[in-house]
Amino acid sequence: MPSLADPLTEGKLRLRNRIVMPPMANDFSDETGAVNDRHLDHYRARAEAGVGLMIVEHSYINPNGKMTSRQLGIHDDSLVPGLKRLADTIREAGAKSAIQLTHAGANTSSEVCGCRPLAPSDVAMPGREEAPRPMTLQDIADLKDDYRAAARRARDAGFDSIEIHGAHGFLLNEFVSPHTNRRTDEYGGSMEGRIRLPLEVIAVVRDEVGPDYPLLYRFGASDFLEDGLDLEEARKIAPRLVGAGVDILDISGGLCGSRPQGLADIQGFFVPLAASIKLVVEVPVIGVGGITEAVAANSFIEEGKVDLVAVGRALLKNPDWAREALAELAG
Ligand SMILES: Cc1cc2nc3c(=O)[nH]c(=O)nc-3n(C[C@H](O)[C@H](O)[C@H](O)COP(=O)(O)O)c2cc1C
Repeated sequence: MPSLADPLTEGKLRLRNRIVMPPMANDFSDETGAVNDRHLDHYRARAEAGVGLMIVEHSYINPNGKMTSRQLGIHDDSLVPGLKRLADTIREAGAKSAIQLTHAGANTSSEVCGCRPLAPSDVAMPGREEAPRPMTLQDIADLKDDYRAAARRARDAGFDSIEIHGAHGFLLNEFVSPHTNRRTDEYGGSMEGRIRLPLEVIAVVRDEVGPDYPLLYRFGASDFLEDGLDLEEARKIAPRLVGAGVDILDISGGLCGSRPQGLADIQGFFVPLAASIKLVVEVPVIGVGGITEAVAANSFIEEGKVDLVAVGRALLKNPDWAREALAELAG
């Protein structure tokens, strides 16, 4: 089995090591969603310190899917020059890049997104009060156009890959989860219906970027809710995501969010989900959750549980985490 320091040498995305910075929203932007120098400094520091893959934070594909007022945007062609500076910065610092494309669905408020939030059904997200507006078939067609255009911008800006956000109660996760998807049309009901939109989004993005461009999907593999998505169903869904065109699966939580209470102190708290998904797919799998120690990160790879390890808050706290971890493991 490889170790954390070993490169990823197979597949469309080649990496210098197995350390991933997962997408983490900084709200460094302004109302326009544009990149500025703070973004460049933030990502440069972590890339220069040796991270293999930098996944740039969630970027909204349409203002109606914007989650916070200073979120990074990828919804307009005027943003591409700034995004290109960011992609160039990461490349010059020696890392590979991805950018996460998102629509917040019901995981926002009308105050921020400028309309009643869109969702599969009128079920409020756990912890939010505003009932979203169920999407019409026209809304769904428009959403796919937005994903296509955002994917083109990401590729034109020079990012090495794209990650589609299908976790943490964002729109695509809301379609997959039986807790939030109560639709009775072809986009709801059975698993087949609930995964239809994510599969269609993957297909349009794949069509836009071409067959050789690496595509990641952040999959919320359990909602940890009684009537939500569970791991058993997620294990059936994961191969379908791959079949639709995904090259790397980034496994996180679903409606429970990225840092569920009670789990957050465990080193690698979502790695068991990822390890279980890894058994049913052939593509590389990223594990995440509470990882702060180099030895733990390395063991998840050496034990074959996951192929890549994402280190979030530890990298926010210490930009040099990757350098220090690799030095520690080199002894
Ligand atoms: C400040 C902050 C912002 C985050 N923003 C995003 C995001 O934009 N997209 C996403 O998929 N996850 C996001 N996450 C979740 C992280 O990517 C990661 O999965 C989570 O923090 C658990 O990893 P960690 O314990 O190593 O921090 C965010 C987490 C934090 C702490």
